[in-house]
Amino acid sequence: MITPGEFKQRRKLLMRQMKKNSIAVLASAPAAVRNRDVEYPYRQDSDFHYLTGFDESEAVAVFVPGREQGEFILFCRKYDETKAIWTGKHAGLEGAMKQFGADEAFPIEDFAETLPTLLDGKRTVHYPIGFHKELDQQVMAAVNSLRGKARTGAKPPDEFIALDRIVPEMRLFKSPEEIRALRRAVEVSVLAHKRAMTACRPGLYEYQIEAELSHECMRHGLRHLAYPSIVAGGHNACVLHYTENAEMLRDGDLLLIDAGAEYANYAADITRTFPVNGRYSEPQRLLYELVLEAQLAAIAKIRPGNTWIQPHEEAVRVIVKGLVKLGLLQGRVYKLIKDEAYKPFFMHRTGHWLGMDVHDVGAYKIDDKWRKLEPGMVLTVEPGLYIPPACMDVDEKWRGIGIRIEDDVLVTQKSCDVLSAACPKTVADIEALMGAGR
Ligand code: GLY
Ligand code: MN
Ligand code: MN
Repeated sequence: MITPGEFKQRRKLLMRQMKKNSIAVLASAPAAVRNRDVEYPYRQDSDFHYLTGFDESEAVAVFVPGREQGEFILFCRKYDETKAIWTGKHAGLEGAMKQFGADEAFPIEDFAETLPTLLDGKRTVHYPIGFHKELDQQVMAAVNSLRGKARTGAKPPDEFIALDRIVPEMRLFKSPEEIRALRRAVEVSVLAHKRAMTACRPGLYEYQIEAELSHECMRHGLRHLAYPSIVAGGHNACVLHYTENAEMLRDGDLLLIDAGAEYANYAADITRTFPVNGRYSEPQRLLYELVLEAQLAAIAKIRPGNTWIQPHEEAVRVIVKGLVKLGLLQGRVYKLIKDEAYKPFFMHRTGHWLGMDVHDVGAYKIDDKWRKLEPGMVLTVEPGLYIPPACMDVDEKWRGIGIRIEDDVLVTQKSCDVLSAACPKTVADIEALMGAGR
């Protein structure tokens, strides 16, 4: 778990990067209504959690480097006995300071009227411009209120900088504690995938396998998945974000599962594709082994100094060569790559940053050039092949096959560490595991 000391360190690092004579303002995620008076399970905004560890809604964090009374101010809900009886514990103003290290804490109701005073005389405001309607309005109202008081000497800020200039770069490099949290999310997710493989049988429904995944995560205390699980039998796997998970699993089909648990706000993101009946057919195996070869080749390109795009380019090269060999594409490999002829079958990139958000923050390019990989970055590697069921350009035996293999990879000092390596992915390992349970 992330320690209070680490949260404090992050705030320090943020404040060190803020402009001279500036202030930063960040709002918690609003609670989302599911229906009438029922809310979705609450999930804090990732930046807010990253800087405060404070997981309540109705809160605003303010950072003022060099402020005498304290640099970290937290506006949050006052402690309320009745509320505690109905909805449980909340930190209150005292907890905000004692548990979460705020130098000062005020009731959230006071935020809008206090903001002009906090902004007065500051040159720059760092805040997540455009992400939070209410905060946008509150900041602009405070600026206008200061403008209206110019004759009394009030000085509104005149520079607004998106906080996403600073925080995503910090979040991109994971600390040892963050890596520990990611490892735990991945570890339980691997157990969930293995459970799904073991439980899978023709005649079961996709949602029954989804239940196995959720059960395994939850019984380890990881109550929330990082994103809705994709449990896609047969040609449902060709729908990249299929989440209906409502159909029956058929003998002879593949099952693609893309699922990952969340632990302490950190996400796992793993995909495996295996045969519903435990044995790959010949066409399924040929395509599967091609995707696996591409994935392994992409992973082999992950090391400090290589660029972000190299693993993808390597995966594309392997996939195109393989598709030509199997007869799904015709022509010269370099030309097919140049013309992106593979895109009807492999239409997404090979990965993304991974962290608190499954598609985590962090720039992929710097000064218009693909950035270099560096130790502490975590990314997914997930090439796939999806042969549309109605694709008349390929032999019938390939149609409707959808395959993706996705692992979570940490860039280390010299190369990389596949965090999800314990999840079976060779044909032999998957068939052995599935055979064992039958
Ligand atoms: N689970 C979403 C993705 O793989 O990007
Ligand atoms: Mn992914
Ligand atoms: Mn995924």
